[in-house]
Amino acid sequence: ATDPRLQGISDAIRVVPHFPKPGIMFNDITALLLRPDVFKDAVDMFVERYRGMGIAAVAGIEARGFIFGPAIALAIGAKFIPLRKPKKLPGEVISETYELEYGRDCLEMHIGAIEQGERVVVVDDLVATGGTLSAAIRLLERAGADVVECACLIGVPKFKDFYKLNGTPVYILVESR
Ligand code: PRP
Repeated sequence: ATDPRLQGISDAIRVVPHFPKPGIMFNDITALLLRPDVFKDAVDMFVERYRGMGIAAVAGIEARGFIFGPAIALAIGAKFIPLRKPKKLPGEVISETYELEYGRDCLEMHIGAIEQGERVVVVDDLVATGGTLSAAIRLLERAGADVVECACLIGVPKFKDFYKLNGTPVYILVESR
């Protein structure tokens, strides 16, 4: 049986056509954040999944992984690691570049954030092509992390093949509408 909380989560995500570009259906999680009961359901579902699994760190992807990641990290007693867009972190970083539909982008992490063999969950709001999560996995693995799973509220069904990225499972709560 599917968890009854999932319908509420799906309903609370606002779909905005033609944002940020014509033809793109934008899944807006800010509508969900205005509903503390539903926001909590989403966080709780991840917490229930990852609690007691020896997860040392939750890595959140800028920007919307910073909204969900820390709540999950605190609840499971893990540290939180921000994976940031370029030139935002003040310390020494390692970076990983990835291809976008148009152009390329990059994620950076502070050196020393991860210790060898630590178990990590990567959190973001949405997985589409999986390019962003793949870069996050590569970055963390280069730093010695054991990336257990990626966790996203929303998956875009068109890209379902990517729900496993280089052997790392991607756990999603709902599919985009
Ligand atoms: C969105 C989303 C993911 C990424 C998923 O972020 O929050 O991070 O795209 O796409 P992918 O699976 O095809 O890589 P966006 O690029 O809009 O950046 P932002 O969070 O800085 O706005």
